[in-house]
Amino acid sequence: MKKLHIETYGCQMNIADSEVVASILADLYEITDQQKEADLILINTCSVRDNAEQRIRKRLRELGSLKKKNNKLLIGLLGCMAERIKEQLLTEEKALDFIAGPDAYRTLPKLIEEASRGELSFNVILSEEETYDNIAPIRYDGNGISAYIPIMRGCNNFCTYCIVPYTRGRERSRDPKTILEEATHLFENGYREVTLLGQNVNSYLWKEESEPLDFAGLMEQVALISPLLRVRFATSHPKDISDKLIQTIAKYPNICKYIHLPVQSGSSAVLKKMNRVYNREYYLERISTIKKWIPEIALSTDILSGFCGETNQDHQDTLSIMKEVEYASAFMFRYSVRNGTKAAENLIDDVPDDVKAKRLEEIIALQQHLSLENNQKDIGKVFEVLVEGVSKRSDKKMFGRTSQNKVCVFPRQEAKVGDYVHVKVVSCTAGTLITELVDPC
Ligand code: 5AD
Ligand code: SF4
Repeated sequence: MKKLHIETYGCQMNIADSEVVASILADLYEITDQQKEADLILINTCSVRDNAEQRIRKRLRELGSLKKKNNKLLIGLLGCMAERIKEQLLTEEKALDFIAGPDAYRTLPKLIEEASRGELSFNVILSEEETYDNIAPIRYDGNGISAYIPIMRGCNNFCTYCIVPYTRGRERSRDPKTILEEATHLFENGYREVTLLGQNVNSYLWKEESEPLDFAGLMEQVALISPLLRVRFATSHPKDISDKLIQTIAKYPNICKYIHLPVQSGSSAVLKKMNRVYNREYYLERISTIKKWIPEIALSTDILSGFCGETNQDHQDTLSIMKEVEYASAFMFRYSVRNGTKAAENLIDDVPDDVKAKRLEEIIALQQHLSLENNQKDIGKVFEVLVEGVSKRSDKKMFGRTSQNKVCVFPRQEAKVGDYVHVKVVSCTAGTLITELVDPC
């Protein structure tokens, strides 16, 4: 059988999509992690920032030289970059034989066939319905205990800086029956953690049955599969983090006590320009409700620094909201103009690069400090940890995660991957809890 190598860049959704692609092509190709032995290399791409695209272009040039050594090798590009740049990419990047946008993966066998006949082929048509719901992903790069389950695709929010609504199209939810079947099947096959995925999972809504099912309802049903199956989700929009959802997270011990809630900025004026449809006060109110009902919660966020018109005071507001929320971790970025977005069309990218860089540095330094403080508060506490594997630093240690999504390392002893163990935190860094095994109390 021919061999397929997939390289995935960008978000968790892309990882899940690559697993769907592996399944669509399973009759034609078997997966290899060795690019050298591949007959087909697929690059699943991200367009959210310019530097992500530049990295992929560099990679394509490297692959071009690989092709010179093996003239049978086919190279295809998938994902957001295919959708954003479309067939023009095929003329710009000589290494490419075909491209497919995020809703076109079912047509990959046809695209590959055309490409193997020497035609430059592409499909970047977006769909209002495609959820790949009847395709069982092949989890070729997983750890055997944690899996992603896409529950919705697309985004209707049109934050002014973001290319995603253009590259991934409109929001659509997946049939809950297939989601529950997939989660149950995973559990029966030894998986102990599922992450329900979507650009904005809180907008999940299935209206086909007499009783509509929202995200809180769906998550409850997944949690009820087994108390031994941990449930996580990503990503949420603050506008949709309802009381019902917070109560559902609080109610089920196996729904993880971790919420990723992208704030983007601490300034209401900047949030307005971003079309985030909430302000600082609303966001902080949601955070205090979450903390009131789920005291053990860990929060993380995305922060976008140097957006159009951001003043030093706006930047200070971002630093102060970070301190107020006490995020356990954060993904922090400097604003990168994306052609085609509302910000690119209507706003001026007026924060100089060196100011953007300096502000981002301050944000990263503050988060480093907050993460350390947050972890220090865990010293002496006992946590239940799902064992994920042997530590990369020492084969005498294993690692896993707490419900709060914090990485713990602990002595190896008899623990196996997929077991739940109890650990006590003895010390920490900003990124890891150093723990010892204890008996459950
Ligand atoms: N520039 C920089 N970061 C961006 N993000 C989205 N669009 C841009 C952009 N144009 C960030 C946001 C989002 C995360 C996935 O990527 O913080 O939450
Ligand atoms: Fe982009 Fe906003 Fe949608 Fe997130 S919610 S994908 S930032 S448009």
